[in-house]
Amino acid sequence: MQTVPIKSLKPYFQVIEDVGDHLSWSEFFGSDNPVELDIGCGRGLFTYSAATNNPDTNYLGLEIDYREGRRAATRLLKKELPNGRIIGGDGNIVLTKLIDKHSVQAAHVYFPDPWWKKRHHKRRIFNQEFTDVLADIVQPGGHVHSWSDVAEYFEIIAELMDGHPLFEKRTASTERDPENDMDYQTSFERKKRKLGLPIYRGLWQRKPLD
Ligand SMILES: C[S@@+](CC[C@H](N)C(=O)[O-])C[C@H]1O[C@@H](n2cnc3c(N)ncnc32)[C@H](O)[C@@H]1O
Repeated sequence: MQTVPIKSLKPYFQVIEDVGDHLSWSEFFGSDNPVELDIGCGRGLFTYSAATNNPDTNYLGLEIDYREGRRAATRLLKKELPNGRIIGGDGNIVLTKLIDKHSVQAAHVYFPDPWWKKRHHKRRIFNQEFTDVLADIVQPGGHVHSWSDVAEYFEIIAELMDGHPLFEKRTASTERDPENDMDYQTSFERKKRKLGLPIYRGLWQRKPLD
């Protein structure tokens, strides 16, 4: 897909510096609708499809790779979706510094980079600290969705989330046959399923505040 220059992609694509030091959802989206995050959104298929299918929910994709983020934003721009946006930059900064506690309805983390080499495992986004951040930002009753094709990494994700005192494990959706090539949760799901790989799906619910 061809991307358009960064400037003309505003407000669909913005970088962290554009946002300032605090993200007010109502100002950012121009509505008070619930917000869901697509952390590491890649080319943004989930953000795009979810924003298209759920006009009363706001979707924000976070993507550290600007090129991928701009691709995602180009999709949103073409449809002029008012409820889909991408922020380019380190998602961890957005989660820990810019957004209010318990202000998101759901966090989606699909196919997080596995960093295959053992010495690189520390770069993986899912660790104890990250799950604590998720517990901080997701509202009580809200959800965390995470899928992966990497069994060993998914086991770690599930262990962290299942054992987290502030999350409750829920039943994740099961695999279904796509109706067309866009009918996948994400581009990575499409890629991995076409290779015949199994997909591991996790869903957890934020417990009520004490
Ligand atoms: C394997 S891809 C999956 C993309 C997409 N979720 C999908 O399923 O098609 C992982 C994505 O996470 C992004 N990523 C990794 N670390 C990140 C971070 N700290 N903040 C934002 N994005 C990140 C990568 O650049 C990459 O696009």
